[in-house]
Amino acid sequence: MKISSSELAIHTKNLKVLGYTQLRGLFGDTELTPVRDRLAEVAEEMEGTEYPEFSNLRSDENIVFNLQNKDKLFVDLLGDHAIEKLLKAFINDPYYPALPEDAPNYILGEYVARVSGTSRLRLHIDSWMPAPGPRTWMMQVAIALNDRDETDGCTIAVPGSHVRGEYTEREFPETTALPVLAGDVIVWDGRLWHGSAPRTSHQEAWMLIATLQRWWVKPRFDMTRSLPREIYEQLTERQRALMGYASVPPATETEHTNTRRGYNAIEDHRKALFR
Ligand SMILES: [Fe+2]
Repeated sequence: MKISSSELAIHTKNLKVLGYTQLRGLFGDTELTPVRDRLAEVAEEMEGTEYPEFSNLRSDENIVFNLQNKDKLFVDLLGDHAIEKLLKAFINDPYYPALPEDAPNYILGEYVARVSGTSRLRLHIDSWMPAPGPRTWMMQVAIALNDRDETDGCTIAVPGSHVRGEYTEREFPETTALPVLAGDVIVWDGRLWHGSAPRTSHQEAWMLIATLQRWWVKPRFDMTRSLPREIYEQLTERQRALMGYASVPPATETEHTNTRRGYNAIEDHRKALFR
């Protein structure tokens, strides 16, 4: 969806001051229906899969990992104009000359679909470490596929905590609930103290949660080696760069000496990765 410069200014301010912003009704049923249908298929295919150190610890949550490896449809959502504009304002490297100035050079770190569990997801940060100040290295984009209020385990957050420069106080009592309607998107700074309310309803309210990060942050999964070749072939150059193919560290100094290589690197990696 197009975003005006005044709307962008409001979301930017929210992100700076509160650590999050909400884009209401960004997606409509035209985009959401095929995504919901495909996710239902994937969730069914993956049902019963054992996820080491997840299944045993958070057994009451429903989760599908690595959506980018399941269908291009999920990747397409992240290319939304408003989402891209907002992300670029926070996590694009201005000194990445190998990619066009208007193109994203941030990468995907993780992409999951999640239904909250019946116990509260305790407050945490996603950014691995806290830091005060206006700059961040990680942003979360949460896309609501269904309406989700507090009884469905919606996101909770401590406004302003992203610039606290401290690890999370896990049981901090003052949290703000962020209920959503289907099609709403919440974007937060990875440093924000956040979690999710315990789900008491029987509704399966799905959220897609993408972690986007500066090109030099290690992804949570090995994106460039795990993407199925058939999905790689369907992606645009821009989407391949989002998967990290433009920023893979060279194996040796004779292969190359620059990690910020841009689209030129992508074809090399295709040759190296999909033998
Ligand atoms: Fe999180």
